[in-house]
Amino acid sequence: MSLLIQNADIVNADARRTADIFCQGETITKIGARLDVVADEVIDATGKYVFPGFIDPHVHIYLPFMGTFAKDTYNSASRAALVGGTTTLIEMCCPSREEEPLEAFRLWKAKADGVSACDYAFHMGVTRFDETTGKQLRQIVEKEGVTSFKVFLAYKGAFGIDDEELYRTLALAKKLGVVVTAHCENAELIAQTQGKLVAAGKVGPEWHEPSRPVAVEAEGCHHLMSFAEMTGAEVYVVHTSCRPAVEVIVAARKRGVRATIETVIPYLVLDSSYAERPSFEGAKYVMSPPIRSREHSDYLWEKLADGTISTVATDHAPFDFATQKHMGHPEAGKAVDANFHPTGEGADFSRIPNGIPSIEDRVNLLFTHGVVAGRIDLHTFVAAASTNAAKRFGLYPRKGEVTEGADADLVIYDPSHRGTLSAKTQLMETDYSAFEGFEIQGRPSLVTVRGDVAVREGKFVGTMGRGQLLRRS
Ligand code: URP
Ligand code: ZN
Ligand code: ZN
Repeated sequence: MSLLIQNADIVNADARRTADIFCQGETITKIGARLDVVADEVIDATGKYVFPGFIDPHVHIYLPFMGTFAKDTYNSASRAALVGGTTTLIEMCCPSREEEPLEAFRLWKAKADGVSACDYAFHMGVTRFDETTGKQLRQIVEKEGVTSFKVFLAYKGAFGIDDEELYRTLALAKKLGVVVTAHCENAELIAQTQGKLVAAGKVGPEWHEPSRPVAVEAEGCHHLMSFAEMTGAEVYVVHTSCRPAVEVIVAARKRGVRATIETVIPYLVLDSSYAERPSFEGAKYVMSPPIRSREHSDYLWEKLADGTISTVATDHAPFDFATQKHMGHPEAGKAVDANFHPTGEGADFSRIPNGIPSIEDRVNLLFTHGVVAGRIDLHTFVAAASTNAAKRFGLYPRKGEVTEGADADLVIYDPSHRGTLSAKTQLMETDYSAFEGFEIQGRPSLVTVRGDVAVREGKFVGTMGRGQLLRRS
């Protein structure tokens, strides 16, 4: 199969040119002016951008968490990713403390193998560290092509690790030359504050943010930075939500700590008022760290524009509103009265499964609220949504750039498209959209995965099971 894309306005992280792109099999083989080649399919990209396939470096698909399981499978999530322009995702493999890392890695891999329509890789979660786990982690890095770990400083009693385990994980990562991605919130501060709020009857979803204020996240970041400084390990802070957290990381970088900052799309386009919505609707917006006030999202946009923040991921973590989010209030699932606001007996925000579905919407929201709104330029958009993740996680230059020799992962993007996001039309499995009614300006009109057309005019037309597990370097 060969593909010729003519009149492509090619936008990479660092350059822009108009040219034709020729793809043979799975690879971009030639880029140049008016290519004289014969192709199985010719596409005229006049008036559209051609971007490298987008990469989402922080995704949860199979996720046993807070007494339930995330809603999507690779069947739904990979199709949703592709329709939204994401051709590669990196999933967090999150074993329980009781599971052996190798066994967990195989389990997570089996959920994707032969199912995923897009390419994928894994960050290996370290939720316990002892002699047996150390050996297995080494094997996962050396034999399975995994080049990143994931640790949680939050979620005490579940995924969270203690300081000895954190130290040993970072020391091993340094030895193996892998990067450690980290959820940075101080678990003890959360436990204490949650306990106090719940005891005082402050139990609705609007209390989730005050239970883990910015100081809790900044402390988590400071903690990780100190450990990174002492061990020399490279770290990547996932889902950074606020100014104090960014400032702590920037200060550590000045001391020589190698730290990359990720933010996620909900923090950029939503704010803390969403979790205050009545009738328990606020539960739809409960994620951790919490969505902050506008002042913080404005700051995140600034830091994205100046390159301090490298990547915009999703932290896609889908839970149904009716059947899962209401675990934080058993009565809420039955509510029919629009004024029903369950802050009384039975409600408990600390039991609401944390997470927001967004894998389908990240690119369009970033384009609309970033590029169209004038907050970031096209190159920053490509860097943050594709190239920087490819570079940070060992996928570049195979992924993350429209260049000869790279995988033919292309997004032909139509900036004239106008649409509205809704749970009614999304491919994600959840019964709600956190961005219901949001207008988007632009969408992928055609998406290829290694030369195979996976999306045409917003419709998935790809091949389930064609996605490859990417060995990283
Ligand atoms: O609220 C979130 N972020 N849920 C997913 C798990 C995690 O912490 O990344
Ligand atoms: Zn997290
Ligand atoms: Zn996450």
